[in-house]
Amino acid sequence: MTDPVHLDALEAEARGEIERADSIQELREARARYLGRRGSISTRLRSIGQLDPEQRAAAGQAVNAAKQRVELWVQKRQTELEGESQSRSLSERRLDATLPPPRRARGALHPVTRVERDMAEFFSSLGFEIEDGPEVETEYNNFDALNIPADHPSRDLQDTFFVAGGHVLRTHTSPVQIRAMTGREPPFRFIAPGRVYRCDSDGTHSPLFHQIEGFYVDENVTMADLKGVLYAFARHIFGEVELRFRAHYFPFTEPSAEIDFRWGERWLEWGGCGMIHPRVLENCGIDSARYRGFAFGMGIDRVAMDRYGVPSISLLFDGDVRVLEQIR
Ligand code: PHE
Repeated sequence: MTDPVHLDALEAEARGEIERADSIQELREARARYLGRRGSISTRLRSIGQLDPEQRAAAGQAVNAAKQRVELWVQKRQTELEGESQSRSLSERRLDATLPPPRRARGALHPVTRVERDMAEFFSSLGFEIEDGPEVETEYNNFDALNIPADHPSRDLQDTFFVAGGHVLRTHTSPVQIRAMTGREPPFRFIAPGRVYRCDSDGTHSPLFHQIEGFYVDENVTMADLKGVLYAFARHIFGEVELRFRAHYFPFTEPSAEIDFRWGERWLEWGGCGMIHPRVLENCGIDSARYRGFAFGMGIDRVAMDRYGVPSISLLFDGDVRVLEQIR
């Protein structure tokens, strides 16, 4: 039973299986077949007790030596297999530094922002500075200081979003005139682009929209200066374009006009303008006997709609990425 020939054959068989094992799992199974509790070498070792006492020592040594060698082959194969699996996973994870990086979705400026910046650049080139004001404005700056009396229809609940504490969401950018002119000595010229709010909503009106205010105060400013600046502005924005000044009324300008631009067969309303009312100048501490100024307030959104072919104003502000991607 413990004859060396059979033991040698068993050991050779074990070695072959161990060396052929292709995975840690197969190796474990092979080991169990020989060295496990019921493994053939372990069984041999247990059966030594049944031998004649004088044979036991030699047989025990032989089987133990075989067992140790098999254990060594298992360890050797295990080290090999672990090395292989490590280098395999390394090569699978290898980076190819020459591949282009994954494409990232790129953001873009909103069409209104682009038009607004284009307009601001134009006026900067004429020496206008940019002035800013809050969207939550005092009723005083939005109305009273602009010579809009308390019973004026534009203060109506239907147009104005009132905020607690004598504040409103500014209904136009004109209150920035008050902020910029108060405490300043002319001459000066400013533009003030920004968001304005009115309780109004249909295909061409949105409760939030954008205006750009412009005003210029000096000793000899005239309506002709105003028209000259607005024509140059319109040509910058639209190229060759026809403008139409319609006599109008604003409490804060006198005289006043509305400005339309021609779009194909149609005239589109673009904004309002006029010579700053002396009372507005006085409200800001400016000597209206010495100084006069012009002011205008133009819509920005309609220009963006034209330029990017956006059919409805709400599409500009719904924040639908599918729309914004098309007008990138
Ligand atoms: N604030 C006016 C509006 O929103 C436009 C305007 C601005 C008119 C400046 C005259 C002068 O309709």
